[in-house]
Amino acid sequence: MSAPNKSYDPVEVTALQPAELDKARDAALAAIAAASDLDDLKAVRLAHAGDRSPLALANREIGALPPQAKAEAGKRVGAARGAVAQAMKKRQAELEEERDQRVLVEETVDVTLPWDRAPRGARHPLTTLQERMADVFVAMGFEVSEGPEVEAGWFNFDALNFKPDHPARSMQDTFFVESEESDVVMRTHTSPVQIRSLLSRELPVYVVAPGRTFRTDELDATHAPVFHQLEGLAVDEGLTMADLRGAIDAFVTGMFGGGLKTRFRPSYFPFTEPSAEVDMQCFVCHGASAEPGGEPCRTCSSEGWIELGGCGMVNPRVLVACGIDTTRYSGWAFGLGVERTLMFRHGVEDMHDMVEGDVRFTLPFGMEI
Ligand code: PHE
Repeated sequence: MSAPNKSYDPVEVTALQPAELDKARDAALAAIAAASDLDDLKAVRLAHAGDRSPLALANREIGALPPQAKAEAGKRVGAARGAVAQAMKKRQAELEEERDQRVLVEETVDVTLPWDRAPRGARHPLTTLQERMADVFVAMGFEVSEGPEVEAGWFNFDALNFKPDHPARSMQDTFFVESEESDVVMRTHTSPVQIRSLLSRELPVYVVAPGRTFRTDELDATHAPVFHQLEGLAVDEGLTMADLRGAIDAFVTGMFGGGLKTRFRPSYFPFTEPSAEVDMQCFVCHGASAEPGGEPCRTCSSEGWIELGGCGMVNPRVLVACGIDTTRYSGWAFGLGVERTLMFRHGVEDMHDMVEGDVRFTLPFGMEI
C-alpha cells in the first residue's frame, strides 16, 4: 500500500471525485439491472466489482491519501461499493429464483405420458412351436440338425429313393430355382436333412430338423406354399418300429399331456419301408366325439383322431446311399407338420393368419422363449 502523501491533493485524483464515483456506481447498477441471467451477472460482477473494476481501482487510490482525505474518500468509495454489492446480491437472488422456476418447467417429467410408443412385437408362434416340438426330442437325447432351404435334387429326391420319374419331382409340385434341368430345388420336405446328417455325423445318429419347406400349393385355409416340418431321424444298431412308436408317444405326452393313444396307419414314402401315417387321439374330446351320440368336437372334426405326419423305418436304400452298413444298422424317421400342430393345438382355423404377419395374431401367443 502507498504511504500517506501530505502534498497529495485527493481532489486531483479523478477516480476519487464524487462525480466519477457516482458515474462508476451508476454504470454498475445499470449493468446489474440489465443482466438477464446468471452468466450475464457473473460478467457484470467481474467488470464492475472485480479487482480491475473502476471502483476497486478507486479504492486502491485511497491508501495514498492523507488521513482526513482518506476517511472522506473511504466513505464515498465504500458507499458506492456497498450499493453495488447490495444490488448485485439482490439481482443474484432474483436471477437464481428465475432460473429455478425455469428449470422446474423445462425439466418437468410428465409421468403420465405413455412410454411404450414403440410397441414390442412377438416371436411368431410357428417359430416358438417348432422350437418347442424339437425340445421334446432334445430332452430325449436328440440333437438339432439343419440343412439348406435351397437344396440339390439329389438330397431332396435321389438319395431318398425317389425314382427319376416320381410325380413329386415335377414342376407341378416342386419349386425349381432355375430350370427343371438345373435340379436345384426349394426343398419340398425336411427329409434331405436325414441325408445330410447321415453323411456328416458319426453313427449312431439321433437328430431332429425343424425347418421351412416349399411346395407349389396355392395359399388357402389349409395350405401354404411355404410351411414347416419337424423331421426326426434315428439310426442305430437294433432299432425297430417299437422305438419309433415309443418316441412318438413320448412326443405326444410332452406336447399334449399324458393318457393319449397314438396309432399308425399303413402308408407309403419312397424313403421309409414300411411307412405309416401317425395319428394321436384328440386331446380335447379324447375320441368321445367319434362315439355314437358323442358331442361334436371342433379340434378333430369329430374324427376322434388328429393326424400328426408321416413316419416309418428308414428304407435300406437310403442307408446304402449314405454308405451305411445295413446288416448292422437300422433306423426310423418321421416328419411332423408344424402348421397342422399350431392349428389344432391352438385352434387356429385359417392358414392366412399365420402368413399375414399381423401382430394381433402373434401377440396373444406370448413371449415363449
Ligand atoms: N417327408 C415326408 C413328407 O413330407 C414325411 C416323412 C418324413 C415321412 C420322414 C416319413 C419319414 O410328407
